[in-house]
Amino acid sequence: MDVQRERFLGYARGFFSGSPEVDPYIRLKVDHSLRVCANVHSLAEHEDALGEEPAARALNLAALYHDVGRFEQYRRFRTFSDAVSINHGALGVKIIREQGFFKDEKAETARLARIAVAAHNRFALPGRLRGRARLVLTALRDADKIDILGLIARELASADLKDKQVLMGLEDDNGACTPAIVRALEEGRTARYADMRYVNDFRALLCTWVHDLSFPSSLRAVKETGVFASIVAGLSGAPAVRNSAESLLMRVLGPDVFSVRERISPPPV
Ligand SMILES: [Fe+2]
Repeated sequence: MDVQRERFLGYARGFFSGSPEVDPYIRLKVDHSLRVCANVHSLAEHEDALGEEPAARALNLAALYHDVGRFEQYRRFRTFSDAVSINHGALGVKIIREQGFFKDEKAETARLARIAVAAHNRFALPGRLRGRARLVLTALRDADKIDILGLIARELASADLKDKQVLMGLEDDNGACTPAIVRALEEGRTARYADMRYVNDFRALLCTWVHDLSFPSSLRAVKETGVFASIVAGLSGAPAVRNSAESLLMRVLGPDVFSVRERISPPPV
Protein backbone atom coordinates (compact mmCIF):
# COMPACT_ATOMS: atom_id res chain seq x y z
CA MET A 1 0.00 0.00 0.00
CA ASP A 2 3.00 2.33 0.37
CA VAL A 3 3.20 2.95 -3.38
CA GLN A 4 -0.52 3.71 -3.46
CA ARG A 5 -0.25 6.03 -0.50
CA GLU A 6 2.54 8.00 -2.23
CA ARG A 7 0.48 8.08 -5.42
CA PHE A 8 -2.55 9.45 -3.58
CA LEU A 9 -0.53 12.02 -1.63
CA GLY A 10 1.29 13.10 -4.80
CA TYR A 11 -2.04 13.70 -6.53
CA ALA A 12 -3.49 15.63 -3.56
CA ARG A 13 -0.32 17.74 -3.29
CA GLY A 14 -1.12 19.21 -6.70
CA PHE A 15 -4.18 20.94 -5.23
CA PHE A 16 -2.34 22.99 -2.60
CA SER A 17 -2.29 26.53 -3.92
CA GLY A 18 -0.86 28.69 -1.13
CA SER A 19 -4.33 30.16 -0.56
CA PRO A 20 -5.82 30.14 2.96
CA GLU A 21 -9.22 29.66 1.29
CA VAL A 22 -8.12 26.39 -0.26
CA ASP A 23 -5.20 24.71 1.49
CA PRO A 24 -6.84 23.97 4.88
CA TYR A 25 -9.63 22.12 3.07
CA ILE A 26 -7.25 20.06 0.96
CA ARG A 27 -5.36 19.21 4.16
CA LEU A 28 -8.67 18.34 5.87
CA LYS A 29 -9.53 15.79 3.18
CA VAL A 30 -6.03 14.32 3.06
CA ASP A 31 -6.04 13.84 6.84
CA HIS A 32 -9.58 12.44 6.77
CA SER A 33 -8.62 9.92 4.05
CA LEU A 34 -5.62 8.72 6.06
CA ARG A 35 -7.74 8.37 9.22
CA VAL A 36 -10.30 6.32 7.27
CA CYS A 37 -7.38 4.05 6.25
CA ALA A 38 -6.56 3.60 9.95
CA ASN A 39 -10.23 2.93 10.71
CA VAL A 40 -10.52 0.13 8.12
CA HIS A 41 -7.37 -1.36 9.56
CA SER A 42 -8.97 -1.50 13.03
CA LEU A 43 -12.22 -2.85 11.59
CA ALA A 44 -10.35 -5.65 9.79
CA GLU A 45 -8.79 -6.70 13.11
CA HIS A 46 -12.26 -7.49 14.44
CA GLU A 47 -14.04 -8.75 11.33
CA ASP A 48 -12.35 -11.81 9.82
CA ALA A 49 -14.00 -11.53 6.40
CA LEU A 50 -12.32 -8.15 5.89
CA GLY A 51 -8.89 -9.73 6.18
CA GLU A 52 -9.38 -12.05 3.19
CA GLU A 53 -8.22 -11.18 -0.32
CA PRO A 54 -9.23 -9.60 -2.58
CA ALA A 55 -11.58 -7.77 -0.19
CA ALA A 56 -8.76 -6.77 2.17
CA ARG A 57 -6.69 -4.90 -0.41
CA ALA A 58 -9.78 -3.48 -2.11
CA LEU A 59 -10.91 -2.04 1.23
CA ASN A 60 -7.53 -0.40 1.85
CA LEU A 61 -7.56 1.10 -1.64
CA ALA A 62 -11.15 2.27 -1.26
CA ALA A 63 -10.35 3.92 2.09
CA LEU A 64 -7.38 5.78 0.61
CA TYR A 65 -9.17 6.92 -2.56
CA HIS A 66 -12.79 7.24 -1.44
CA ASP A 67 -12.64 11.04 -1.36
CA VAL A 68 -10.18 11.54 -4.21
CA GLY A 69 -12.96 13.44 -6.00
CA ARG A 70 -13.11 16.00 -3.18
CA PHE A 71 -9.97 17.85 -4.35
CA GLU A 72 -11.29 18.51 -7.85
CA GLN A 73 -14.75 19.24 -6.43
CA TYR A 74 -13.35 21.89 -4.10
CA ARG A 75 -11.09 23.40 -6.76
CA ARG A 76 -13.99 23.78 -9.18
CA PHE A 77 -16.89 24.63 -6.87
CA ARG A 78 -15.34 25.72 -3.52
CA THR A 79 -17.79 23.52 -1.64
CA PHE A 80 -18.06 19.98 -0.30
CA SER A 81 -21.81 19.92 -0.79
CA ASP A 82 -22.60 17.43 -3.56
CA ALA A 83 -26.13 18.83 -3.77
CA VAL A 84 -24.91 22.16 -5.12
CA SER A 85 -21.90 20.89 -7.08
CA ILE A 86 -21.13 17.36 -8.24
CA ASN A 87 -21.33 13.76 -6.96
CA HIS A 88 -17.84 13.36 -5.51
CA GLY A 89 -18.06 9.53 -5.44
CA ALA A 90 -18.70 9.31 -9.18
CA LEU A 91 -16.08 12.01 -9.82
CA GLY A 92 -13.60 9.98 -7.76
CA VAL A 93 -14.04 6.90 -9.96
CA LYS A 94 -13.57 9.04 -13.09
CA ILE A 95 -10.32 10.43 -11.67
CA ILE A 96 -9.09 6.94 -10.64
CA ARG A 97 -9.59 5.80 -14.25
CA GLU A 98 -8.08 8.91 -15.85
CA GLN A 99 -5.04 8.91 -13.59
CA GLY A 100 -4.55 5.14 -13.84
CA PHE A 101 -4.33 4.86 -10.06
CA PHE A 102 -5.38 1.19 -10.10
CA LYS A 103 -3.35 0.19 -13.15
CA ASP A 104 -1.12 -2.22 -11.19
CA GLU A 105 -3.98 -3.79 -9.25
CA LYS A 106 -5.65 -7.12 -10.01
CA ALA A 107 -8.86 -6.63 -11.97
CA GLU A 108 -11.15 -7.90 -9.20
CA THR A 109 -9.41 -5.83 -6.52
CA ALA A 110 -9.76 -2.69 -8.65
CA ARG A 111 -13.40 -3.47 -9.41
CA LEU A 112 -14.33 -3.87 -5.75
CA ALA A 113 -12.50 -0.68 -4.78
CA ARG A 114 -14.14 1.32 -7.60
CA ILE A 115 -17.62 0.16 -6.60
CA ALA A 116 -16.95 1.22 -3.00
CA VAL A 117 -15.64 4.66 -4.03
CA ALA A 118 -18.60 5.19 -6.36
CA ALA A 119 -21.22 4.28 -3.75
CA HIS A 120 -19.64 5.39 -0.46
CA ASN A 121 -21.60 8.65 -0.44
CA ARG A 122 -25.00 7.18 -1.41
CA PHE A 123 -27.77 7.76 1.07
CA ALA A 124 -28.19 4.00 1.52
CA LEU A 125 -26.40 0.81 0.53
CA PRO A 126 -27.54 -0.24 -2.96
CA GLY A 127 -29.87 -3.21 -2.36
CA ARG A 128 -28.67 -5.13 -5.41
CA LEU A 129 -25.06 -5.28 -4.26
CA ARG A 130 -23.97 -8.72 -3.02
CA GLY A 131 -20.96 -10.66 -1.79
CA ARG A 132 -17.54 -9.03 -1.52
CA ALA A 133 -18.64 -5.80 -3.19
CA ARG A 134 -21.24 -5.31 -0.48
CA LEU A 135 -18.79 -6.25 2.26
CA VAL A 136 -16.11 -3.77 1.12
CA LEU A 137 -18.59 -0.95 0.63
CA THR A 138 -20.24 -1.57 4.02
CA ALA A 139 -16.87 -1.49 5.80
CA LEU A 140 -15.81 1.67 3.97
CA ARG A 141 -19.04 3.44 4.86
CA ASP A 142 -18.63 2.51 8.53
CA ALA A 143 -15.00 3.68 8.61
CA ASP A 144 -15.89 6.93 6.82
CA LYS A 145 -18.79 7.69 9.17
CA ILE A 146 -16.72 6.94 12.28
CA ASP A 147 -14.21 9.61 11.23
CA ILE A 148 -16.82 12.15 10.10
CA LEU A 149 -18.60 11.79 13.45
CA GLY A 150 -15.43 12.80 15.31
CA LEU A 151 -14.53 15.53 12.84
CA ILE A 152 -17.94 17.23 12.87
CA ALA A 153 -18.36 16.75 16.62
CA ARG A 154 -15.09 18.62 17.19
CA GLU A 155 -16.25 21.41 14.91
CA LEU A 156 -19.67 21.57 16.59
CA ALA A 157 -18.02 21.74 20.00
CA SER A 158 -15.97 24.80 19.03
CA ALA A 159 -17.52 27.92 20.50
CA ASP A 160 -17.79 30.07 17.40
CA LEU A 161 -18.70 27.41 14.82
CA LYS A 162 -16.29 29.23 12.57
CA ASP A 163 -15.91 26.80 9.75
CA LYS A 164 -18.74 27.32 7.31
CA GLN A 165 -17.32 24.78 4.83
CA VAL A 166 -17.23 21.97 7.36
CA LEU A 167 -20.71 22.88 8.62
CA MET A 168 -21.96 23.43 5.07
CA GLY A 169 -23.18 26.97 5.74
CA LEU A 170 -25.88 25.88 8.24
CA GLU A 171 -27.53 28.57 10.37
CA ASP A 172 -26.53 28.65 14.03
CA ASP A 173 -29.92 29.19 15.67
CA ASN A 174 -29.63 27.72 19.16
CA GLY A 175 -33.12 26.19 19.56
CA ALA A 176 -34.01 25.47 15.94
CA CYS A 177 -34.27 22.03 14.37
CA THR A 178 -35.97 21.19 11.07
CA PRO A 179 -39.15 19.02 11.42
CA ALA A 180 -38.06 16.51 8.72
CA ILE A 181 -34.84 15.84 10.62
CA VAL A 182 -36.67 15.50 13.96
CA ARG A 183 -39.15 13.09 12.35
CA ALA A 184 -36.33 10.89 11.07
CA LEU A 185 -34.78 10.89 14.55
CA GLU A 186 -38.06 9.94 16.23
CA GLU A 187 -39.05 7.34 13.65
CA GLY A 188 -35.69 5.58 13.77
CA ARG A 189 -34.56 6.45 10.24
CA THR A 190 -31.38 7.99 8.87
CA ALA A 191 -31.89 11.71 8.25
CA ARG A 192 -31.01 13.31 4.92
CA TYR A 193 -28.37 15.99 4.35
CA ALA A 194 -30.75 17.73 1.98
CA ASP A 195 -33.18 18.42 4.85
CA MET A 196 -30.61 20.21 7.00
CA ARG A 197 -30.93 23.93 7.61
CA TYR A 198 -29.62 24.54 11.13
CA VAL A 199 -26.53 23.48 13.03
CA ASN A 200 -28.77 21.46 15.36
CA ASP A 201 -29.99 19.51 12.34
CA PHE A 202 -26.45 18.30 11.80
CA ARG A 203 -26.27 17.17 15.43
CA ALA A 204 -29.55 15.27 15.13
CA LEU A 205 -28.56 13.82 11.74
CA LEU A 206 -25.29 12.49 13.12
CA CYS A 207 -27.21 10.73 15.89
CA THR A 208 -29.33 8.94 13.27
CA TRP A 209 -26.14 7.46 11.80
CA VAL A 210 -26.29 4.76 14.48
CA HIS A 211 -28.75 3.08 12.10
CA ASP A 212 -26.09 3.07 9.38
CA LEU A 213 -23.16 1.55 11.25
CA SER A 214 -23.16 -2.10 10.25
CA PHE A 215 -20.34 -3.84 12.12
CA PRO A 216 -20.56 -4.44 15.89
CA SER A 217 -16.97 -3.18 16.20
CA SER A 218 -18.01 0.13 14.56
CA LEU A 219 -20.73 0.63 17.16
CA ARG A 220 -18.24 -0.18 19.91
CA ALA A 221 -15.72 2.25 18.40
CA VAL A 222 -18.12 5.22 18.35
CA LYS A 223 -19.32 4.39 21.83
CA GLU A 224 -15.78 4.34 23.20
CA THR A 225 -14.88 7.75 21.79
CA GLY A 226 -17.70 9.48 23.67
CA VAL A 227 -18.52 11.32 20.46
CA PHE A 228 -22.28 11.12 20.95
CA ALA A 229 -22.11 12.58 24.45
CA SER A 230 -20.44 15.63 22.92
CA ILE A 231 -22.95 15.90 20.06
CA VAL A 232 -25.99 15.52 22.32
CA ALA A 233 -24.64 18.09 24.80
CA GLY A 234 -24.75 20.61 21.93
CA LEU A 235 -28.54 20.11 21.67
CA SER A 236 -29.18 21.87 24.98
CA GLY A 237 -31.13 24.62 23.20
CA ALA A 238 -33.59 22.04 21.83
CA PRO A 239 -34.45 19.82 24.84
CA ALA A 240 -37.15 17.75 23.10
CA VAL A 241 -34.76 16.87 20.26
CA ARG A 242 -32.04 16.14 22.79
CA ASN A 243 -34.37 13.71 24.60
CA SER A 244 -35.23 11.89 21.37
CA ALA A 245 -31.54 11.67 20.46
CA GLU A 246 -30.60 10.36 23.88
CA SER A 247 -33.26 7.65 23.90
CA LEU A 248 -32.30 6.54 20.39
CA LEU A 249 -28.62 6.30 21.30
CA MET A 250 -29.32 4.47 24.54
CA ARG A 251 -31.58 2.04 22.70
CA VAL A 252 -28.97 1.21 20.05
CA LEU A 253 -25.69 1.61 21.93
CA GLY A 254 -26.76 0.71 25.45
CA PRO A 255 -27.78 2.69 28.54
CA ASP A 256 -24.15 3.41 29.42
CA VAL A 257 -23.49 5.28 26.14
CA PHE A 258 -23.17 8.63 27.92
CA SER A 259 -20.92 7.41 30.70
CA VAL A 260 -17.94 8.36 28.52
CA ARG A 261 -18.14 12.15 28.52
CA GLU A 262 -16.32 15.13 27.17
CA ARG A 263 -13.54 13.26 25.46
CA ILE A 264 -14.12 15.40 22.38
CA SER A 265 -12.34 18.69 22.85
CA PRO A 266 -12.71 21.77 20.67
CA PRO A 267 -10.09 22.17 17.94
CA PRO A 268 -7.12 24.39 18.84
CA VAL A 269 -7.72 28.02 17.85
FE1 LIG B 1 -16.78 11.10 0.67
